[in-house]
Formats: sequence, structure tokens, C-alpha cells
Amino acid sequence: MEPLSVMEKIALDFQDEIPEPLPFLVEDHPLLRRISDPIKDLTAKETKKISLQLFETIKAAGGGFGLAAPQVGISKRLFICSFDWKIETIIPIINPRYKPIEDEMETHWEACFSVPMAYGNVMRYKKIRCSYQTIDGAEINAELEGIKARVFQHEYDHLDGILYPDKCIDLRVFDDPDELQNFRLWVRKEREKAGYL
Ligand code: NI
Repeated sequence: MEPLSVMEKIALDFQDEIPEPLPFLVEDHPLLRRISDPIKDLTAKETKKISLQLFETIKAAGGGFGLAAPQVGISKRLFICSFDWKIETIIPIINPRYKPIEDEMETHWEACFSVPMAYGNVMRYKKIRCSYQTIDGAEINAELEGIKARVFQHEYDHLDGILYPDKCIDLRVFDDPDELQNFRLWVRKEREKAGYL
């Protein structure tokens, strides 16, 4: 049998009370613009519940690189993401911090649940050193680069009330879902071509 994933272990504490997916706040919602509060006052169970709410929400939306608590109206410094982009490896990232390892930046296309029907080309640090707490309270320090560093920076920005259109150098907004889907496929191909994984 496969070992339980981090999120499956968290779900064990909730038995029949698995939270429902939450609606995404979008664009001008003021809660997307707040500086979120550090997780200091929450019990482990409350922190696990928020993680699970984010997880259920991203699953219901068909998956994604990450989702931050403010995007569903919870102003806490927590996001979920997967460092290899699979639902099974999603983990909660609590009270994150990061610093660039070098000044070098790179651009690539990003999308966001809080900015529907759009893609933006955004400059991000190429390599970062990050730290965060796990759901069990362990302190993690890690170096990230490429798309991993990008996702971390994108989700971190949500905790400071920043959305990617604030800093992108090219924003494409789509009316037609088919055009958005074509663009999504093009972005994916570009990412693969560039070995940007
Ligand atoms: Ni986002």
C-alpha cells in the first residue's frame, strides 16, 4: 500500500467532517489586498483545517501549482503547493519567508485563481532560499529554483496582498474560454521546451 500523503494524514483528523471547497475571491476583493497575519494563535487543528480547506478547493478546481489562504478569504500566512506539481505531493507551507540567493531574475507566464481568464508574464528571482514551518511544526530551510522558486514567490505575494498583475510585464486577458485554453497549452509547451520544470 502507498504511504499516506501529507494531506491524507491531515484528513484523518477530520473523519466525516472534511471541509467543503470554498469559493475563490477574485480581483478587487479587499481581502486579497490585506497583509495576512502570522500563524501564532491558531491551534494545530485549526491550521490543519485551513490546509484541508485549501486542498479541497484546489482539487475541486482541477488542481494547480498552489493556493494561498487569502484567496479563499482567510487572512493567514499559509499556502499549499506541490514542489513536483502533483495533487499527492501537496503540502501546507506555514509562515513562509524567502530571500533571493542571487539578483538574477527571469520571466515566465503565470496564472492565478484570483485573476480568472488571464495570463501574465512576470519577472521573478531565479533562485531563492526559503524557510517555513510544516504542519507538524518543523522548521524547513530549502533552496528553490526555476518554476519551484516562481510558485513560492507567487504564493508568498498573496500573503502580502500582491497579485501578479501588479508586477507583470505583459498581461493577456481572454474573453473566450477556448482561447484561454489554447494559451494555457502554449504556455505549457513553452515551459517544457525551456526545460522550465
Ligand atoms: Ni495566485
